[in-house]
Amino acid sequence: MTATLQQTERELAPQLKTIKPRRVSILGSTGSVGVSTLELIDFACSTGSAQLEIVALTANSNVELLARQAIKYRAAFVAIADEGQFAELSELLFGTGIKCGAGTTALIEAASYPADWVMAAIVGAAGLQPTLTAARSGADIAFANKECLVCAGGVFLAAMREGGGRLLPVDSEHNAIFQVYDFERPERITRLLLTASGGPFRTWTQAQMANVTVEQAVDHPNWSMGAKISVDSATMMNKGLEVIEAARLFPTPANKIEVVVHPQSVIHSMVEYVDGSVLAQMGTPDMRTPIASALAWPDRVESPSTKLDFGSLGELSFEIPDETKFPALRIARQALDIDGLAPTVLNAANELAVAAFLNRHLKFLDISHVTEQVLASFDFGSTAAFGAELLLEDVLETDTEARHKAAEEIRKHMI
Ligand SMILES: NC(=O)c1ccc[n+]([C@@H]2O[C@H](COP(=O)([O-])OP(=O)(O)OC[C@H]3O[C@@H](n4cnc5c(N)ncnc54)[C@H](OP(=O)(O)O)[C@@H]3O)[C@@H](O)[C@H]2O)c1
Repeated sequence: MTATLQQTERELAPQLKTIKPRRVSILGSTGSVGVSTLELIDFACSTGSAQLEIVALTANSNVELLARQAIKYRAAFVAIADEGQFAELSELLFGTGIKCGAGTTALIEAASYPADWVMAAIVGAAGLQPTLTAARSGADIAFANKECLVCAGGVFLAAMREGGGRLLPVDSEHNAIFQVYDFERPERITRLLLTASGGPFRTWTQAQMANVTVEQAVDHPNWSMGAKISVDSATMMNKGLEVIEAARLFPTPANKIEVVVHPQSVIHSMVEYVDGSVLAQMGTPDMRTPIASALAWPDRVESPSTKLDFGSLGELSFEIPDETKFPALRIARQALDIDGLAPTVLNAANELAVAAFLNRHLKFLDISHVTEQVLASFDFGSTAAFGAELLLEDVLETDTEARHKAAEEIRKHMI
């Protein structure tokens, strides 16, 4: 028996060594997920387990890092959203032969460059148009930009169907569920359990949270991430957005998607089956693991992330989330129950409120307050249900209206 297994391993070894060569684009290459993706690509190429060609890279305003990445990886095209940075980008890339552009049209151009695998890692609804373009192109989409699916779920899924590429979740929770979800027998699944670290204020009272600083809010206990998602984790809106994301990605009813606080962030999420079996995916809190999973799926590729050391893990604990202390979770569920354009409003209001907090114009607890007020100010009576497929124009119009209302609401609470 052992001899047979060893022989099989030897036969399999060459196939496990390399994953298919691919053309890769990274939308949001200068951010936390973008940089982790490039680190993983460096590692995979250095170990010989992948041969990847970087096609297009994008950023918002970090022109120096974008230019360095473009030159290092010999990208074909780079786009910067901030048009004021175009002259500097052109100068930094002068003589390299790398093409570049600025503004939304350039981001869309970057997303339409022929690629096999596109990492969607722009933060916020700003990623919507380029991510839709990449989805329609037929590339596999490694999907991190959850706001895109929250604000335009049906539109985005229709674009994926049109393109025919695979949608590979990168958010660690959804990647975990994806790995253990039986897509052939979804009716045998009784619950999805999204784990949440609880963020930096899990044990704080609301009174303590009243005067939270930006520095405290972005200091996540387990994960190193961009500022917006770090604040979302602190309010727990991140988990609310993830519940909506899970409802879009998996054919399990929304009322069977639960959140469990798990402060150690070792179990990244779980799927419960009718027989009582609960399948979990575990790992250290390092985005290079879910990115590696999305890069090689259904194959596996080695990642530089630290592996779990069970001897030193200690206790794994679980708690029910406190929706009185963290109302964002309840507000997000409310938006999902209404469905249609309510998640669009939720996302837009939250984005603006988080930006105001990061600019020190709004208090931490007012982020959820503003979001709830804006959601309540809309009459969704005639909104088409999610299944009836919204139009992109409806999404963009509602997004703009929600941002106007959020700006008004923020002015009322301005510090
Ligand atoms: N970080 C994580 O561990 C993690 C985990 C799961 C899911 N996600 C999701 O992944 C996405 C990215 O998160 P992140 O933490 O990597 O964010 P981040 O560090 O803030 O990076 C965001 C990226 O998007 C670019 N960007 C920002 N605003 C833009 C705009 N208006 N137009 C075009 N590009 C813009 C940024 O460019 P500049 O650098 O020039 O600003 C950067 O490249 C988010 O949707 C987040 O929820 C992140």
